[in-house]
Amino acid sequence: MVVGAGRGPLVRASIRAASQAGRLLRVYAVEKNPAAVVHIQAMVEAEGWADTVTIVKADMRTWSAPHQADILVSELLGSFGDNELSPECLDGAQRFLAPGGVSIPRAYTSFLAPITTAKLFDLCRAYKDLEHFETPYVVKLHRYHQLSPPQPVFTFEHPNHAVPIDNSRAATLTFPRRPEDGSGELHGFGGYFEAELYPGVTLSTHPPTHTPNMFSWFPIFFPLREPLLLAPGEPVVAHMWRVVGAHKVWYEWAVTGPRATAVHNAAGRSYWVGL
Ligand SMILES: C[S@@+](CC[C@H](N)C(=O)[O-])C[C@H]1O[C@@H](n2cnc3c(N)ncnc32)[C@H](O)[C@@H]1O
Repeated sequence: MVVGAGRGPLVRASIRAASQAGRLLRVYAVEKNPAAVVHIQAMVEAEGWADTVTIVKADMRTWSAPHQADILVSELLGSFGDNELSPECLDGAQRFLAPGGVSIPRAYTSFLAPITTAKLFDLCRAYKDLEHFETPYVVKLHRYHQLSPPQPVFTFEHPNHAVPIDNSRAATLTFPRRPEDGSGELHGFGGYFEAELYPGVTLSTHPPTHTPNMFSWFPIFFPLREPLLLAPGEPVVAHMWRVVGAHKVWYEWAVTGPRATAVHNAAGRSYWVGL
């Protein structure tokens, strides 16, 4: 079952993979966006796949599947891994995953690194409001300086066997800085992700493990309302929360070292993703 099938590239990839593996395949393409469903319908018709692919216009969290799936394939990852509700969607869909079935992706982890980026700070400030300093931005980072290597933040695994499932998270990260690198100015954090699609098969925007020639995701930038001056060797202590409400999910972030900032996006007042 391809859940969140979009315009159908993973349906096509699944059929190709089954053919290469010499396996018979039945595909359910589940998609909630009517505009995308039209694309899959056209693809299935053009390719003559009507006997193989069943298109389902539904939300995967509430759809009553007629069969259990051996494999759940999805591409619901955002630039910070879990920021487009992949955890919530796949937790909802795993009801129809057969015992021993697999999810592709199997797991994903977000990463953060403190960065200097006067350019992005100025672009946020130009809006002259709080909201734009409390919103993460998907952006190709060009003019920036990394103050310390990225560190892992949140990990999600599928299927998720936790009882009860709780996708809220909190992380405190201490980023060391070398005295010889001198003083610095912190404007915010660059965000990345690593995904394990299947054991041994990975996809990454995390700079040390970045998948070669892969441009499907840019990094994400979490700004700070005020730049923070850092003395040589002074570490950065950062906090990130993933908050799950009844109808929305959002991040809050703050710095407590070397000085405390406000908690950004408290109670999801500036930015959230609707469930
Ligand atoms: C990032 S896109 C992937 C699209 C696909 N890879 C493509 O290139 O067309 C995620 C897709 O999942 C769909 N989606 C998100 N949440 C869903 C849900 N709860 N149930 C069904 N579809 C969902 C969206 O409408 C979107 O088409």
